[in-house]
Formats: sequence, C-alpha cells, structure tokens
Amino acid sequence: MPASPSRPRTALLLMAAGSGSRFGTATPKQFLTLAGSPVIRHAALRLAPEADLVQPVGEAAPIEAALAGIAHLPVVAGGVTRQQSVLAGLEALAPHAPEWVLVHDAARPFVPPGTVEALLAALGQVPGAIPAVPVADTLKRADGTGRIAETVPRAGLYRAQTPQAFHFATLLRLHRTAAPDATDDAAILESAGLPVALVPGSDDNIKLTYEDDMPRLERVLLGAMLPRVGLGFDVHALVEGRRLVLCGIEIPHTHGLLGHSDADVAMHALCDAIYGALAEGDIGRHFPPSEANWKDADSSVFLRHAAGRIAACGGLLANADITLICERPKITPHAPRMIARLAEILDVGTERISVKATTTERLGFTGRMEGIAAEAVATVLVPRQAGTK
Ligand code: CTP
Ligand code: MG
Repeated sequence: MPASPSRPRTALLLMAAGSGSRFGTATPKQFLTLAGSPVIRHAALRLAPEADLVQPVGEAAPIEAALAGIAHLPVVAGGVTRQQSVLAGLEALAPHAPEWVLVHDAARPFVPPGTVEALLAALGQVPGAIPAVPVADTLKRADGTGRIAETVPRAGLYRAQTPQAFHFATLLRLHRTAAPDATDDAAILESAGLPVALVPGSDDNIKLTYEDDMPRLERVLLGAMLPRVGLGFDVHALVEGRRLVLCGIEIPHTHGLLGHSDADVAMHALCDAIYGALAEGDIGRHFPPSEANWKDADSSVFLRHAAGRIAACGGLLANADITLICERPKITPHAPRMIARLAEILDVGTERISVKATTTERLGFTGRMEGIAAEAVATVLVPRQAGTK
C-alpha cells in the first residue's frame, strides 16, 4: 500500500460523521452515489493507496457498505463538530503511532493526482501542509440585509481544501486542547503559532456542500474516467427436459439449454463482456466449472460478481448490448422483461441495457435449433490511474 517505503508511516483519516445540513437530503451527502460509486468511496479509492492505514470516522453501517473491499481500521464514531470527529479519529489512530496523518473530508471525492505527493514533501520541512487555491473573485462582505457592507481585499487569500497533512503527534497533542469549532485542522496549528505550508489545490477538488455541486462534481469525476469496451460470446446446446433461461427470465419452450449452471447463455456472454472490459479474464476464471457449487446455479450470481468487479475499481457500466442468436423462441416479446431483470441485477437504469435477437436464416447449428448463441458488448468507465499509460 505505501507509495514509497522510505517515507514515514502515514495514516489517512476519512471524515464522514457530518449530517450534511446544508445539502438537505436524508442520506448524508458523503454516501450519495455519484458517477457510479458513493462519494466517500471515490475519496477512499484515490487516497488509500497513498497511506499505510485508513481510519474512517462516522456511522459504521453506511461506511462499511461504501468501503467494501478497501482495507481500513474499525470505523469510529464522530462527534458533534468536525473538530471533535477528527479528535476521535486521531485517538483511535494513536495506538498505531503513525508518523504522519492525512485528514480528508469524505465529501471531497476528487483529489487530483500529485496532491498527496506535494503535501508529504512539505512535511519534511514543516509540521503541517494543506492544498489551497488563491481566491480569484472579488470578495464582498454582506451587511446582513442583502447589501454590500464592504469589499475585502483578496490579495494573499486562499481557499483551504483537504487532504491536510500533519506530523501526527503534533496534531493529536494540539487537538486534545483545541476549541471544538475549528472547521479545518490547519487552524489548530495556526493558533499554536506553528507553520503550515500551502501547496497547489485544484478547482476540481470540490467539497460536496449544496445540491448544485452534484452536476459539477459528476462532470469532474466522469472526466477522469476512461471508457473500456469488452466483448463476450457463448453457446449452449438445446436439449429436451431442461428449463430455458435467457437474461434471467424463464421462457416457456419445447427445449432448454444444457450446461453446468442454468446455462443462461446471454448472461454468460454479458459477464464475459464485463470481465473483458476490465481485463479480468472470463467467467471460467472466476467460477471454475469444476466446482460443484455452480451446478444448476442461477447465473445472476455471476452477473452480480461482474458488477461487483466494476464497483471494486470505482467504475460504472455505461451500457451493455446483447444479441441472442436463435430461430426459436422469439425473443422480442420477452425483451422488456429481460432488460428489466438485467438492469435490476446490475443496479443500473434500463436505458443502459439492450437485448435483441437475430436468426441465422436456418443456417448452421443455430439454424438447425441445436443450440443458442449469444454475443454481448459492454462499455465500462474506469477511473484513470495516475501515472498509467
Ligand atoms: N464531519 C465530521 N463530523 C462532524 C461534521 C463534519 O466528520 N461533526 C465531516 C463531514 O462528514 C465532511 C467533512 O467533515 O466529510 C467536512 O464537513 P462539512 O462539509 O461541513 O460536512 P457536514 O458538516 O456534514 O455538512 P454541513 O456543514 O452542511 O452540515
Ligand atoms: Mg459542517
């Protein structure tokens, strides 16, 4: 996990105990889904690889659900104010004695590449460093009646962001005696007269605060993803005495498909398309046919797994298109139910899924109704990894 084995042991404090009162949804903003993943998950996927320990702070159940598959310490409960929540996290980290700590708002899903590197480089000289953006707009102070009281000179003013980086022991010591109302951690070092460095922040490092921030953040997150396309193909033999299951729907027919599982040829092709897009092999690699567990298995287990692999990397399914190749049964009358079932399993809108069919004009094994073939294409958007080609 550590980016560099030579740098001091670094912990990440992921702050998620707020209720998001300015946002106004029942679910706190850090758990809302944006660009395919919960906001806090985007933050964790970007920052966890830069730290040796991850300490989330907030309500355990939604945090555990959002961070599935990302190694972290047991979640600790937060406090009434952000400062109290940070203190709770620091105390939980204390027995692990990290040398440095990154304190990050879970409500900031996009930390640009290079930010942590710049922060940690600064910690060689000073006990604290934060990313910040110079204020570009002219600043006005309001008089409380909707009118301007005065213009505030903006020279030398910055907007503070997170992650903020500190020498762990210094931050913990100061937090233990700090006033409970600091809205960032740098303020606590400032009050103690300790130097805090400014490193370049980014306008894309948006803290989800108001509902209006959602579309802007979604653009930022989607803009940092690359499309990947995968192709799947599968064939199963048609025999008497078996159920016919296609795209998760049982279809009345004289014959059914032969196979180890329920032989849902369409769902298998779709799984392979998704695994292909992720460059993660095929269905046989994840579910070896030699394993007895998959005998007559409902193939939705496989598709759920494929969807889980997309979620694991913080990606999303942009679309999937399936073509069934058979003379009979006619697929079109069943397509809406098939689409609805696949969308349900994948947890995406039905507009992202297409199911269609063709015959082979009575030619070949599909023409002779000896078997059914299926092809699938899936487009998956995957976060661009910093430093990859
Ligand atoms: N936070 C926290 N504990 C608190 C308050 C805030 O851990 N008692 C976290 C939030 O979950 C968020 C980050 O600190 O990730 C920044 O706080 P802010 O954006 O102010 O979030 P909320 O306090 O939840 O929102 P609001 O101020 O609108 O209520
Ligand atoms: Mg707040």
